[in-house]
Amino acid sequence: MAELQTAHSVAPLGNDLPFGATVRGLELSHLSDPGVTQALRELWIDKGVLLFRGGETSREMQVALSAVFGELTEFPFRESRSEDDPRLVKIKYFPDDGSCYEVNGTLIGGWIPWHTDMIYFDRINRGGILRPVRLPKSGGQTGYLDQIAAYERLPEALRERIEGLHVVYTADLNYANGKFARPDSIRFVRGAESFMKIMQRQYQYPRVIHPMVYTQAETGRKVLNVSPGFADGIYEMGGPAGEALLAEVIAYCIDPDAAYFHDWQEGDMVLWDNWRVLHCAAGVPAGETRVMERTNISGDYALGRALDGNRDKLPVFDV
Ligand SMILES: [Fe+2]
Repeated sequence: MAELQTAHSVAPLGNDLPFGATVRGLELSHLSDPGVTQALRELWIDKGVLLFRGGETSREMQVALSAVFGELTEFPFRESRSEDDPRLVKIKYFPDDGSCYEVNGTLIGGWIPWHTDMIYFDRINRGGILRPVRLPKSGGQTGYLDQIAAYERLPEALRERIEGLHVVYTADLNYANGKFARPDSIRFVRGAESFMKIMQRQYQYPRVIHPMVYTQAETGRKVLNVSPGFADGIYEMGGPAGEALLAEVIAYCIDPDAAYFHDWQEGDMVLWDNWRVLHCAAGVPAGETRVMERTNISGDYALGRALDGNRDKLPVFDV
């Protein structure tokens, strides 16, 4: 692996964590050095999550750094894009405009379960860089889980049972309807304006399938390619038997001892490999405000497939 310039430093993201790295002191000017950008790409593939801290932070830096890892693309839901730069997804919760759930008896704004971004489409974005715009006084952590480590946790017998199977996903963004990895109790309280608009088109988005296991092209490591959020069942195994098998696999995915929860500081940026790392939003107290922006790094691992009809003939994008 190429070495990063001495102007930056690289350290583990957390003690005993099998994934992730912290890059300190990266400046926009460093990105013109091909040795630096190549080392960053290799580190990303190796570690899955990169926290950038103590360096340059701005929307310009976020966009330029994202471009190191792939081409930026606009998110399919126009309601999710930032008003003044459509290359960015705006993740926002305001007390008077935000999706809110009662989770285990507590009102939580902006709660999102463990998921892969865009898994309800056949083409999944390669990754993204998340940057805080306005942080809440409390809460607001983002969780990350490595799916290469999750595959390694699976017993051999379970690996054999899921070989060649696919998971069905649907674009239901109401997380109280989630079938897997549910909190003990969850109730939908209200939806953000953007959420309500997107959900009006819910049934226009075809169901899709993705393989439960795939191999990371660059390293040959196997990835447990299962997103608890948006999962509906196993394509080859409908009914209770398939749901029980998927629940068994997901329990290995979301082992709380294997998770990293990031406490955001002003100036942080976090990049993750969306083809290999699950994430979740812990949410905020319902009276708080939280605004984040995320880039959408394009790509296609070419293993997803739409189930219902010809996607190109459906008004699925930007309607
Ligand atoms: Fe997400």
